[in-house]
Amino acid sequence: EFHLAPREADFSFNGVTGTFDERQMQRGFQVFKEVCSACHSLKLVAFRDLQGIGYSEAEVKAIASQWAIETPAPNPETGELATRKNLPSDRFPAPFANEIAARAANNNAVPPDLSLMAKARHHGPEYIYSLLTGYRNQVGFKNKDGQELLREFPEAKTPAGLHFNPYFPTLNLAMTPPLTSNGQVQYTDGTAPTVDNMARDVAAFLTWTAEPKLQVRHQAGWAAAIFLLIFCGLAWGAYQNVWRGVK
Ligand code: HEM
Repeated sequence: EFHLAPREADFSFNGVTGTFDERQMQRGFQVFKEVCSACHSLKLVAFRDLQGIGYSEAEVKAIASQWAIETPAPNPETGELATRKNLPSDRFPAPFANEIAARAANNNAVPPDLSLMAKARHHGPEYIYSLLTGYRNQVGFKNKDGQELLREFPEAKTPAGLHFNPYFPTLNLAMTPPLTSNGQVQYTDGTAPTVDNMARDVAAFLTWTAEPKLQVRHQAGWAAAIFLLIFCGLAWGAYQNVWRGVK
């Protein structure tokens, strides 16, 4: 294995009490919408699921109907293949009609669906964050020891059409760097839209798409642990009671 371990990202959902930060989720969604969705599908997520990160029903309706890519559906009158505006119940439509179209637009590579990417990769959230900020020569990029990557991989030769990225297992990634300049996305909550923040936020958003019930799981874990603790006390008390008269 030649590639680097992902960078630490200190996400709010890490740890046994971790929770999603709603504002970060919304910023991450904005990055997905304005940048990633041009190439990547999110086929396991429906527009109305966005209510889970704090959007109202009306906002979801507006987001769906204004989404740049429409949902394929036959024309109800003629039956011909066509598209229509998205409804809250629709899943996010794929940006390419099929694999051939996807390859044609991406130098013969296929952008994978991102719904479960944060689960599919080891240390998924940190991996996505690292991948997006880890292209060589990217704005302000240094490894965790503050070294320029050029120094760490001086011999790296990248085939034409691929991009050197030391976090990608093969080191050569077909995705052109998607986040290249600070302010590429206009945040409205006062957060600075640096490449680092945009990468972190979209990685957090994709953690939510991959495991929307993460918080519920953390809470259930605590409830189970507390129950077991109480149960231990009860069992010990019962044991004392049962054996009271016995020498
Ligand atoms: C691959 C994320 C934007 C094209 C990937 C992978 C991730 C990812 C996690 C998978 C790496 C792996 O397999 O381990 C993102 C995010 C984006 C974004 C979060 C937005 C910030 C884009 C854009 C394009 C694109 C705008 C097209 C211009 C691709 C392609 C691959 C890929 C072609 C396949 C790469 C390969 O297998 O070598 N992306 N992406 N991505 N992405 Fe993106």
